Amino acid sequence: MRALNALVVVLLSVHLVSAQQFVTLVKQCHEQFLDRFNECLISAVKRVQPTLVKGNPELNVPSLDPLRLGDFSFVQTEGPVTVNAFYSDTLVYGVPKFDIKYLDLNVQNGSMHFGITLPSMTVRGKYKIGGRVFELPIEGEGDRGTLYTGISVEGIGEVRPHAGFLRIGNIKLDFDFKTMVTKMENLFPNNRVMGDTVHHFLNNNYQTVADEVRPEVSRQLGNFFVEFFNRILTKVPAAVPRGASINTNDKHRKKTLQDLALRRISSASRN
Ligand SMILES: *[C@@H]1O[C@H](CO)[C@@H](O)[C@H](O)[C@H]1NC(C)=O
Repeated sequence: MRALNALVVVLLSVHLVSAQQFVTLVKQCHEQFLDRFNECLISAVKRVQPTLVKGNPELNVPSLDPLRLGDFSFVQTEGPVTVNAFYSDTLVYGVPKFDIKYLDLNVQNGSMHFGITLPSMTVRGKYKIGGRVFELPIEGEGDRGTLYTGISVEGIGEVRPHAGFLRIGNIKLDFDFKTMVTKMENLFPNNRVMGDTVHHFLNNNYQTVADEVRPEVSRQLGNFFVEFFNRILTKVPAAVPRGASINTNDKHRKKTLQDLALRRISSASRN
């Protein structure tokens, strides 16, 4: 039975799509399914998705499980959450399980709309933090771990042809999640009660805290997605004819148009 499982795994990995096959798939999307290009591109991405766990050097995508983030700081000086934090050795687990809910590349309009969900994600690394969270002073340095569930990200960006390929820029996005549990080792090393209080507060008020840090986190996530999409899209030729036939029958394009119409209605009724 175990040998059989091993065989199945080997067969599956042989079937994983190589970068060359991905390019071929995308080319087919161009040549045969231009009116449903978004849908076709998403299914091509789904085919390479399993290779993203280990990383796909041919596609220039590093291992996504864990995803290694560069050191970054988070500084917020105004509002009820003022923190000065530095994060290093950050590893993010769970990213390859992402599900693209919609993706509309609108080359004529120069815009893209996308929505992605992720069932859960664990972030581990080192932190150094100082500041205040709703009146509670916060300071510490050590290991940290956070588990998020029910993550969703929605964004809009710019897409344009550049040197023969599609390039994405200037992504603005919003994110949400259902639950968050965080643990920071060594928060107030000499004051256990204070450490417990802050953890208790963070784990019970994560939505409020998330609202506070949303603009800055959204900005950093936006930069991440620009890089991620551009790595994959360097394999997607920009030779998309500029005719009106792109994505005309595509369900993702329909969704964008519906969303825009709904937004117009709701903003009209507000005025
Ligand atoms: C066209 O681009 C603008 C600016 O990026 C964007 O706000 C709008 O939603 C886009 N329209 C469509 C139909 O994609």
